[in-house]
Amino acid sequence: MTAVTDLSGAHAVYDVDRVRKDFPILGREIHGRPLVYLDSANSAQKPQVVIDAEADLYAHHYANVARAVHTLGSEATNAFEAARDTVAAFLNAPSRDEVVFTKNISEALNLLAYSFSNASTFPGAERFRLGPGDEIVVTEMEHHSNLVPWQLLAQRTGATFRWIPLDDEGRLVSAAIDEVINERTKVVSFVYQSNALGTINPVARLVARAREVGAISIVDAAQAAPHLPLDVQEIGADFVAFTGHKLYGPTGVGVLWGRYDLLAAMPPFLGGGEMIETVDMTGTTYAAPPHRFEAGTPAIAQVVALATAVEWVQGVGLDAIHAHEVALLEHALEVLPTVEGLHIVGPTTAVDRGATISFTLDGVHPHDVAQLLDERGIAVRAGHHCARPVCVRYGVAATTRASFAAYTTLGEIDALVAGLREVGEMFR
Ligand SMILES: Cc1ncc(COP(=O)(O)O)c(C=O)c1O
Repeated sequence: MTAVTDLSGAHAVYDVDRVRKDFPILGREIHGRPLVYLDSANSAQKPQVVIDAEADLYAHHYANVARAVHTLGSEATNAFEAARDTVAAFLNAPSRDEVVFTKNISEALNLLAYSFSNASTFPGAERFRLGPGDEIVVTEMEHHSNLVPWQLLAQRTGATFRWIPLDDEGRLVSAAIDEVINERTKVVSFVYQSNALGTINPVARLVARAREVGAISIVDAAQAAPHLPLDVQEIGADFVAFTGHKLYGPTGVGVLWGRYDLLAAMPPFLGGGEMIETVDMTGTTYAAPPHRFEAGTPAIAQVVALATAVEWVQGVGLDAIHAHEVALLEHALEVLPTVEGLHIVGPTTAVDRGATISFTLDGVHPHDVAQLLDERGIAVRAGHHCARPVCVRYGVAATTRASFAAYTTLGEIDALVAGLREVGEMFR
């Protein structure tokens, strides 16, 4: 057990039972068995305070934001903008105006890619213009959300799409980094922690190399945000994005953080209400960031509840959550390989690795594994996890993935192992 900060801020042993009490769904039974939820990398469950925050806004303070002068309009606007302050503080952002609310991280990454392709006609946006001879760099372990938008941008602009390859252990080929990111590179976008492999990438090195060659650096922190303290000033990248529903928050909301000078020079992504300064039939000028990138009515209640999720995480303490998850990870890496025929796809040690473990089981299709585990109340994900090139790289059609969170217990990992043993025996 680790000495950590508990919910009241006092030092205590991490009390996973107390954490679990915050999540009503964890009391459920599935097929007559207690729910063992090991699919948090897909989407995390929600503490009651988050559920209440969303309902409270609708029940007591709801109106559209930034438009209405009436009391409810200003209450909703204040709650919405207070959420921006909460997220800015969570990220240690130098300015609240650097926090853009999107509908998820997929939209945040598409926002960047589409804004960059609008740069060719936008005054002052030379820095974002791409064309033949320029290169966009990702890694071979990206989620499709951080891969397809850049392939599309390359197609629209004639730039070349490149990637840093994976080694046999599930890490980036270190020697390739300085060659793939070079003086032709304009954009480097990479995942902090892989959803398919669990790998934690050498963020500082990748950001430093991008800066060295004058490229824009973008960090997909979808899987990192729920597990690691995310300090954008320390990370040093130009943009960092995450998604609310993996951080114990609601669906329908994501965050793009960007350096203010860059956001201020970027063309808009979507056009619509509230992103303008003035509109004429002959042309439009645009609002300053963040509003330039928040066209239309935002996900008001979800943004407000995301702030509550951030506060919940801060209350438990990300350091405490991280220490708890490292203990879970170390246990899982010890016991999972004792299951006959099980092969981990990704790093097999806890070094630079998150608590998300993909694996195959000899002779059993991952979808059968997931379905048979579900019959035992255990929820895992099976498939390519929206990172198909990872499966191609390791020669598997799919994997089964177990992912842990603040509420996961050592006993649940043991239940997974027992379930996998039973499944393996059924097919032998
Ligand atoms: C690393 C990573 N990036 C991006 C995404 C996409 O998140 P969303 O569907 O919320 O946009 C995910 C979701 O699994 C992810 O794991």
